[in-house]
Amino acid sequence: MKMWSGRFNQGPDAEFEQWQRSFPFDRLLLPYEVAASKAHASALAKAGVLSGDELAATLIALDQIASEGAPEADDPAIEDVHHYVESRVVELAGEVGYKLHTGRSRNEQIATDLRLYVRAQIDDLTTLLAEFGNAFAKQAETSGAPSFAPDRGPRQVPLSDLSGWLGESVGQADNVMPAYTHLQRAEPVLVAHWLLAYVEMFLRDLDRLADCRKRLNVCPLGSGAIAGTILPLDRAAIAEELEFAAPTANSIDATSDRDFAIEFVQALSLVALHLSRWAEEFILFATAEFGFLKLPEEYSTGSSAMPQKKNPDALELIRGKAGKVYADATALFISAKGLPLAYNKDLQETQQPVFSAAQQVSSMLRVATGFMQAVEFNYGRMQQAASSGFMNAQSAAAHLVRQGVPFRHAHELIGKAVRLCVEQGCELEQLSKENYMLCGIAADEQFYTALTLNEVLAIHNVPGGTAPQRVLKSLQTAKEELSQFLGVAHACT
Ligand code: ARG
Repeated sequence: MKMWSGRFNQGPDAEFEQWQRSFPFDRLLLPYEVAASKAHASALAKAGVLSGDELAATLIALDQIASEGAPEADDPAIEDVHHYVESRVVELAGEVGYKLHTGRSRNEQIATDLRLYVRAQIDDLTTLLAEFGNAFAKQAETSGAPSFAPDRGPRQVPLSDLSGWLGESVGQADNVMPAYTHLQRAEPVLVAHWLLAYVEMFLRDLDRLADCRKRLNVCPLGSGAIAGTILPLDRAAIAEELEFAAPTANSIDATSDRDFAIEFVQALSLVALHLSRWAEEFILFATAEFGFLKLPEEYSTGSSAMPQKKNPDALELIRGKAGKVYADATALFISAKGLPLAYNKDLQETQQPVFSAAQQVSSMLRVATGFMQAVEFNYGRMQQAASSGFMNAQSAAAHLVRQGVPFRHAHELIGKAVRLCVEQGCELEQLSKENYMLCGIAADEQFYTALTLNEVLAIHNVPGGTAPQRVLKSLQTAKEELSQFLGVAHACT
């Protein structure tokens, strides 16, 4: 039976009728529609609309509907998930099923179901994101943990003299790599420092999702179609049963608000943005030109034409699929903009972008985490890259500054030394004292010490900097913060 045929003389145009249905996609909301219907039925019993027996029969039918799940085949006579649940309760429990819609409207139901769906997705995505972040923290640990011990003495090895410590560094020491600005080598950093930069992005993503969850966690049920329900329903009890923090405050807003859906997909857009930046950098670092990492075979594919190829398809697809999430965010904005209060059917169009973005990001995160756990770094190559390109120039200038030379002059003097090195095809630590003299620099032993990798790292000794003891601290903090998110198990209906 239709939910609204009484006042019509004729049925809808067949094509229009099918075209306006949402059951092909809102069937996904079935578990939430059932949970919300159970809470409503209990409130109806408390208000005297359902007898004890009627409530029991209704709840048994609703539980059965939840355990059956949405039907395999689409039924063209069913308009939406709300219609499906009501019709199925009637099939299972008889006439009493027609009482279930007393004092409620599909406008408040869809607003509630969608909130419950987004809340459950936030909980799942929180776990996935925290696990992804953990994979970075583990790699950071492997890349430098043993030598993070503070009692370990400094290692005075010139950047260009890798022979003494390349072997030692591979896979176990404070592994170092160049950090880039403008995609040009800028300064050496610990590999762990670089990896932890990504963890910061994911921690912000986690925070944004938690914030969105907090704001969405209010219950529209009891708002009716727009002005509030016509029955004395206990809205606080309904909200509590569905684990919402409180009932919504205004029935007009409650039935038309989709801010939570927009916020959610915006937060996912940033997750996708971070994933795509990560994918891009790893694609670059996996090229023969960089050679910083080895693509895991289980996340790569070959070429049908070129036998030698191993392609970073997992990363490329993550980068590519990010675009779809932005499309969903844009679609949501455009569907919701300019709508007069309160419910308008346009709002039906806000469902699919939410489903699609959640599913997209969740699958991207699963693949990304597997990749990140499997990837191996070529620390030797990273170290080599960090050992050339005058990345100790700033440390050299800092040494002159410590001797009282104004920074601008120090910058100029070291710049001249770099020019000489370029002409002679050597690095700063290889330039002779005599040559430094020509540049106006008295290069003593301490000056050469300032050029060593250890010193270059050590001078970045500020919170958030790349000095090893600072990175160790950041790693500990990041792990603690991630574990807080993993520990948040939100019970969901
Ligand atoms: N399928 C509808 C939606 O998603 C449910 C609400 C229908 N309300 C109405 N007044 N026609 O928006």
